[in-house]
Amino acid sequence: MKRNIHLIAAARPNFMKIAPLYHALAKESWADPKIVHTGQHYDLNMSDAFFHDLQLPEPHIHLGAGTGSHAEQTGKVMMAYEKIVLEHKPDMVVVVGDVNSTIACTLAATKVVYDPDDTSSLNRPLVAHLEAGLRSFDRSMPEEVNRLATDVLADILWTPSSDGDEHLLHEGVAREKIIRVGNIMIDSLEMMRDKIEADPAYTDLGLEKGEYAVVTLHRPANVDNPTSLKSLCDMLTHLAKALTIVFPVHPRTRKNLESTGLLASISDNPNIKLLGPQNYISFMNLVFNCRIAITDSGGLQEETTYLGIPCLTLRPNTERPITITQGTNQLSTLESIEGQIDAVLRGESGKGSAPDLWDGKTAGRVVDSIKSLLDT
Ligand code: UD1
Repeated sequence: MKRNIHLIAAARPNFMKIAPLYHALAKESWADPKIVHTGQHYDLNMSDAFFHDLQLPEPHIHLGAGTGSHAEQTGKVMMAYEKIVLEHKPDMVVVVGDVNSTIACTLAATKVVYDPDDTSSLNRPLVAHLEAGLRSFDRSMPEEVNRLATDVLADILWTPSSDGDEHLLHEGVAREKIIRVGNIMIDSLEMMRDKIEADPAYTDLGLEKGEYAVVTLHRPANVDNPTSLKSLCDMLTHLAKALTIVFPVHPRTRKNLESTGLLASISDNPNIKLLGPQNYISFMNLVFNCRIAITDSGGLQEETTYLGIPCLTLRPNTERPITITQGTNQLSTLESIEGQIDAVLRGESGKGSAPDLWDGKTAGRVVDSIKSLLDT
């Protein structure tokens, strides 16, 4: 009998983590992978466009959770997913990343009981966390809370880099639960490389290769506070004197720019190109050809490291320190960013190198791990 494996997808950064795994599992005769979309992200351009670009089928199961406060969103996903687990009885549940749906599905799946009379086998699905062990050591970030709680509960912890293994061991996790598989997002990038390179996104905007910055900002700590949002807009206005800026605006950020009346201060600037959220292929085309990325995203820190593109991360910390120690990433503040950009434009930034196992072959290693865990 085929093994029923749920892949949980919730928010934009999850889709490029489940896509390579879905495609790799779909080729295996013993596996029946099912995509469970929690509905945390629901807009066409935050969700459907990614399914299309990454050649994923329609989600097999849709929970329709939508937005809400952290507790509301987490609770809605838990309640909906518990019913699905009991109905479908998956052999394994794979959660990815660090969003609210990651912990919600982990909590639901680790507490269900399939058959209370059967004491001979695991009476619930095996739960595995892909991208385990990352830590910012900043519990004011909702994602850090999600990461910590998910890693305490999951049965299997697939890590992207050695720092992930070290954090988990330090937290007392048994060594046999930790399996280093590498960075699955690089699989998506390599899987789509031809399409990304052929995409017209940057040329359609009239941009020259290596002569513009890509900016993405959506963290609550940066964009929810009007004072810090105003400082970010001032910073962009200043930067736009030196470099054309391409800024695909996240829905959270757009709402806040509109409600504070700050949007016009940047949208009227001819050197700042404000776009809607981009699909995966167009966004990666913009990144492939830019001079520098300025971001508070997690994934972009990794993608720029892999591509050797300088990245300034507007955060006090990162859960992905290997992008700094080995890659092209630097932490930045509103006070330091202008000097850092000048230094990058003067060519004072190293090329870095891709960390071990960031090689486009992570999905294959995860499939091997699932195969042996499910004893197929
Ligand atoms: C979530 C994740 C974050 C991830 C980010 C990527 C958590 C705690 N946060 O943050 O880790 O980096 O996704 O995008 O899980 N909205 C839309 N359309 C959508 C999705 C959201 O308009 O398709 C709006 C929501 O209504 C809400 C806001 O955007 O007002 C924020 O959405 P939410 O999913 O709560 O958090 P993100 O900031 O996207």
